[in-house]
Amino acid sequence: MAKILISGDLLDGPVALARSRAEVDQHAGADPLPKLDLIARLRNKDGLVCLITDIIDDQVVGSAPRLKVIANVAVGYDNIDVAAARRRGIVVTNTPDVLTDTTADFTWALMLATARRAIEADRYVRAGHWRKWEFLRLLGTDVHGKTLGIVGFGRIGRAVGRRALGFGMRVLYHDAVRADPAQELELRATFADRATLLRESDFVTLHCALTPETHHLIDAHALRQMKPSAILINAARGPIVDEAALAEALRERRIAGAGLDVFEREPTVHPELLPLDNVVLAPHIASASEATRIKMATLAVENCLAVLEGRPPLTPV
Ligand code: GLV
Repeated sequence: MAKILISGDLLDGPVALARSRAEVDQHAGADPLPKLDLIARLRNKDGLVCLITDIIDDQVVGSAPRLKVIANVAVGYDNIDVAAARRRGIVVTNTPDVLTDTTADFTWALMLATARRAIEADRYVRAGHWRKWEFLRLLGTDVHGKTLGIVGFGRIGRAVGRRALGFGMRVLYHDAVRADPAQELELRATFADRATLLRESDFVTLHCALTPETHHLIDAHALRQMKPSAILINAARGPIVDEAALAEALRERRIAGAGLDVFEREPTVHPELLPLDNVVLAPHIASASEATRIKMATLAVENCLAVLEGRPPLTPV
């Protein structure tokens, strides 16, 4: 029987699936396996099912002589040195599609919560400050009818754009690859260069992969191009935004707000973001619905088993 390492807590169903067809060594617990333990436990494994908190670098793949497949339980795979894996003939897989709508839903949750100050409102009520109804209390900004700028028009970016139809928004998008005209028409989305998108959008939402090209894509310069009334949403990867520059822009109200699900050095949040009321913070949960987590873990296990059983992986990267 093939041997698989599952590097963290997954739901019971997907783990049982793995156990029914392979010998499973599971690291249970909230903390990721320290690198040396990961290396030690991978030495006799044929497959790895891992999470985004596992850094699978050249040294890790190089110390796993039997490894044939790395199945990331995530759509993003910037935690894995894919080139190093490929050099050794190791297949890398991810979990696209199954999390698209759930992630798009949460992007909207961040957008609405930030624009309409939902978290501030909750804090206000719980603190016992609500003594009388006030006409001018907690005024937010409208979402409907505004311009939404989507950076990265892949599966998730497009799903976010589809939801904007119901809010009667004008949608701009920017991507290295232009969408086909039928898709632009269906989503009523207009291609824009990055500067135009930043200048004209009331909401800028990020959905690109983290690569050397997108690292700090939103830096001090980009933030200065945005409207002072604009809101930035990031449910992609933290390092796409220069967090220190963002904290400064928010503090000085050079942009109006931000909704962030991801951070440059998770789980650390830039200390200057924490006291700000105009930012909504979440602990990287955009795809965290129960149903979607089951689908992600099941797909990762199926990918792993497919390779180990000599079949093509379902979703290779
Ligand atoms: C989560 O961050 C993912 O990439 O799926």
